[in-house]
Amino acid sequence: MNRISVALAFLLALPIVQSSSRPPGTPPLNSAVERRLDSLLALMTLEEKAGQLTQYTARWTAPGERVRLIPDQEALIRKGKVGSLLNAYGADVTRRIQEIAVKESRLKIPLVFGYDVIHGLRTVFPIPLGEASTWEPGLIEKAARVAATEASAMGIQWTFAPMVDIARDPRWGRIAEGSGEDPYLGAAMAAAHVRGFQGDDLSQPNTILSCPKHFAAYGGAEGGRDYNAVDISERTLRDVYLPPFEAAVKAGAATIMCSFNEIAGVPSTGNRQLLTDILRKEWGFDGFVVSDWGSIGELRAHGFASSGAEAALLALSAGTDMDMESNLYGEQVEVLVRSGKLAESVVDESVRRILRAKIRLGLFDDPYRYCSVVRERSLILHPDHRALARDVARRSMVLLKNEKNLLPLNKQAGTLAVIGPLAADSINPLGTWDALGRPADVVTVLEGIRKAVSPQTTVLYAKGCAIDSSATDGFGEAIAAARRADVVVMVLGEASSMSGEASCRSVLDLPGNQEALLKAIHAVGKPIVVILMNGRPLTIPWLDQQIPAILEAWMPGVEAGGAVADVIFGDYAPSGRLPVTFPRRVGQVPIYYNHKSTGRPADDTVKYTSRYLDVPSSPLYPFGYGLSYTRFAYGRLTLSAARIREGESLRVGIEVRNTGERPGEETVQLYVQDEFGSVTRPVKELKGFCKIALAPGEKKNIEFMLSTADLAFTTLDMKHRVEPGTFKVFAGGNSRDLAASSFEVVAR
Ligand code: GLC
Repeated sequence: MNRISVALAFLLALPIVQSSSRPPGTPPLNSAVERRLDSLLALMTLEEKAGQLTQYTARWTAPGERVRLIPDQEALIRKGKVGSLLNAYGADVTRRIQEIAVKESRLKIPLVFGYDVIHGLRTVFPIPLGEASTWEPGLIEKAARVAATEASAMGIQWTFAPMVDIARDPRWGRIAEGSGEDPYLGAAMAAAHVRGFQGDDLSQPNTILSCPKHFAAYGGAEGGRDYNAVDISERTLRDVYLPPFEAAVKAGAATIMCSFNEIAGVPSTGNRQLLTDILRKEWGFDGFVVSDWGSIGELRAHGFASSGAEAALLALSAGTDMDMESNLYGEQVEVLVRSGKLAESVVDESVRRILRAKIRLGLFDDPYRYCSVVRERSLILHPDHRALARDVARRSMVLLKNEKNLLPLNKQAGTLAVIGPLAADSINPLGTWDALGRPADVVTVLEGIRKAVSPQTTVLYAKGCAIDSSATDGFGEAIAAARRADVVVMVLGEASSMSGEASCRSVLDLPGNQEALLKAIHAVGKPIVVILMNGRPLTIPWLDQQIPAILEAWMPGVEAGGAVADVIFGDYAPSGRLPVTFPRRVGQVPIYYNHKSTGRPADDTVKYTSRYLDVPSSPLYPFGYGLSYTRFAYGRLTLSAARIREGESLRVGIEVRNTGERPGEETVQLYVQDEFGSVTRPVKELKGFCKIALAPGEKKNIEFMLSTADLAFTTLDMKHRVEPGTFKVFAGGNSRDLAASSFEVVAR
């Protein structure tokens, strides 16, 4: 047996250990695994090492032939010059590609296949902003588990998700892909996605590597314009943008994707403080970092690298282990090492991280573990998956207004007119990352309503207008339908292409002439329910004034129609709460709940305060807001003590009662304000939430445990700790309407 086979035999004999990204203080890496990795590294040429650091998007031969990679890519795989492919999927397709790597390359190192499984693969769930609106991390973990089950059944072992970028500017199209404006909710959702994707054993054939992205502060782009510069303090970076990433790493995230943007002059892809000092030395991350697409090559356009060679050197030295698509590692690493500019030990460490992930996936045990056509056929779009997608979708919907309890509607009789460009649309409900979702799989809102109503109910339909057009030729038909109806349901919003990557808007209004259509229908005089399908907060002041019922449905996925019907007919009472603030006007942006006080806090009755002349300072709908079909009343806040010492915890209780006639779910939210600090502190910060179900008349006492560690922040001297002083504590059903109390933290 030659040396290679011996080394690989050792590798195959490895005890599969879950050396997940271990928080500091947890057991060291498995030394047997590391010794075996040493022996494989010792066999690898520099060219093969550079190959493991290289990822390509799969490029295919002409359609019609049996699906194959272009010959050049097959040749690169045979030469051991490829470590990973993205955008290759299918049990059969990935098996055939894997066979090239495992049977025809010199060292037979398996590839790892990555894909953007952001909110589902074929069973598409609501966009992540909708998922976050559930405020149910446990539910979102289940959704991620389904996504991983379907992805791994199609030969995918790695998803470029979750996207955990905090976003406070709805002009930014990628706000759709994340969990909104708040670090605490964002951290809970980030960890839930990682647990769902990775399960508790990455070597199982239904678990996949997660990849929290985009590290870091991508959502802070100036002007809400994608890829734009981010200029924030290290304190803001640490206290606002990093918490979801740290939570994801602590949950065991196996990989991280760095971001396109610079932070205060240093592009993330080449940012050693970010990728090594914080991510590895402070947090103990032992996975690997992949660039975002060509972000290594883009260091030149940033003006941060003067050549491809310098870009490769800066990125690899900073801690970007794998090069997606710029191919600079493949071209430059050998030259950089041979010229002495790059130590081979740096290359070895990145190769080791990537090989370690492949070992954890079990790929050295069985490279075809994820290539089961039988699993693929039995699991994709499984009815149980669709049922979960419907539950997540209806729980994601946020009731913004419901005047005179127009909702829920009666599905037993009468005539409904369903109008609007998104009413019968099966494309846009899939959202911005539709993966392998198919419009044919989507239940449209019109279909969902038609399926839900009784035979005695007439459902009329008219599109009325396009999503983004000035044409009014459809208005007449829509008006005629409205005239014949008892109630009108209008489905309005954005195309999925209006949010997501490189899809920023300078205004947040309903696109095209949708509002004109709505006004024309409003003039008919029938009650109107508006269902919004959008990937960002919209500015809808006229709707808020004139339309009796407004339901934010986001982009709800394959089960859009069923979920909307469940909510508007009352089979499920809406329970979603906003993870982002809705501004009145785009001119208010950025506007978010956990803002600073300033020396002149906004007061619309006082001129010389931080405000605008032409719009109220408050948002249209605040963070955490959402209505139900019942009402909730809150009692007084009770505290276990008026004063606690550093290191102690405070029990905070509040009674919540359902004072309406219908059952409902309430998300009880806990906020804290650190009144004074060595640096200024936000007016309030989310520090806990709990979603509860209450029958009519039922009450529950909800308790939160607040530790002084929960109150830590980056102090003036850049330490992360709590500062003794006075605090306000709030609890309620959104970030505005809150019961308040106060307590003190005293030094130990
Ligand atoms: C894109 C996106 C990133 C995605 C990657 C691979 O540019 O920024 O989120 O995972 O490319 O598709």
